[in-house]
Amino acid sequence: MSETKLGGQFTFRGTSLTVHRIGYGAMQLAGPGVWGPPKDQDGAVAVLREAVAAGVNHIDTSDYYGPHVTNQIIRQALHPYLAGLVIVTKLGARRPPDKSWQPAISPEDLTAGVHDNLRNLGLDALDIVNYRVLGSGHGPEEGSIAQQVSALADLRRNGLIRHIGLSNVTASQVAEAQAITDIVCVQNNYNLASRHDDALIDDMARQGIAYVPFFPLGGFTPLQSSTLSHVAGRLGATPMQVALAWLLHRSPNILLIPGTSSVAHLRENLAAGQLTLSPETQAELDGIAAAPIGVPH
Ligand SMILES: NC(=O)c1ccc[n+]([C@@H]2O[C@H](COP(=O)([O-])OP(=O)(O)OC[C@H]3O[C@@H](n4cnc5c(N)ncnc54)[C@H](OP(=O)(O)O)[C@@H]3O)[C@@H](O)[C@H]2O)c1
Repeated sequence: MSETKLGGQFTFRGTSLTVHRIGYGAMQLAGPGVWGPPKDQDGAVAVLREAVAAGVNHIDTSDYYGPHVTNQIIRQALHPYLAGLVIVTKLGARRPPDKSWQPAISPEDLTAGVHDNLRNLGLDALDIVNYRVLGSGHGPEEGSIAQQVSALADLRRNGLIRHIGLSNVTASQVAEAQAITDIVCVQNNYNLASRHDDALIDDMARQGIAYVPFFPLGGFTPLQSSTLSHVAGRLGATPMQVALAWLLHRSPNILLIPGTSSVAHLRENLAAGQLTLSPETQAELDGIAAAPIGVPH
């Protein structure tokens, strides 16, 4: 296997879990608004099978996508799972019938969430569970997460969870959690245009902890920038491939989980690992964060 296949490899700190740096985020497999079944169930299954056939061995999900739908599609498409496939899920929310996102953070909620994931994925233990702080929807907010992390640490001692990560957190919340248990990954909103976590990424890199950006392509508001388009044209790539390649070059602890419901987009995203960006191009792309997104620059 080529060392650069799917962006190379990363081993989660203190674990035996090694994944390619380009993985797959399954949220787009649920229906509109991350609710209900997809319009094209066979298409969703095909995306997952194509990803794994191409070597993807890191899939991000949650039982609250759908709810339950995304995990059930993963199970339908991929169970029994290939050895080495790492499925990372997250807890901290529930979806009532009004389709909203509500916190589910008591020890009982978290325990029930683990069992939902185990049942719907068809697993006996979960490789990595992120505690996702819901907050007010405007990014990470300070506040103790000790109770929830302690509950996950108990579930880990009981063997239902192998490793713990965090999502939508501040640097001080990471430190608070690390005083309770080992943290193997942090999943926050980060991309070419949204770079609030630059210092946190560098700190996680120093510690060997994976940083897994959600919305690597801009999420519900896809990245658009004339600089990005210009660089893509010059390299004979697409803007989304350049956005992913920029993340791979940004720091060796960054793992990608771009989401797509399309096999064509999946192939395009996986090929981003072949792109090499010169230091000059990387610096040119760094300039995007300094300018308002969507405005020509
Ligand atoms: N921890 C958290 O709070 C959190 C929050 C959000 C997401 N996540 C995780 O992070 C993963 C990634 O986030 P995301 O899926 O929301 O956002 P994303 O990866 O930034 O972008 C996904 C969007 O980009 C489109 N897309 C994908 N590849 C493309 C391509 N090559 N060309 C053009 N458009 C493309 C997708 O549409 P098509 O389906 O048409 O390709 C979709 O609309 C999710 O799947 C989920 O697992 C975690």
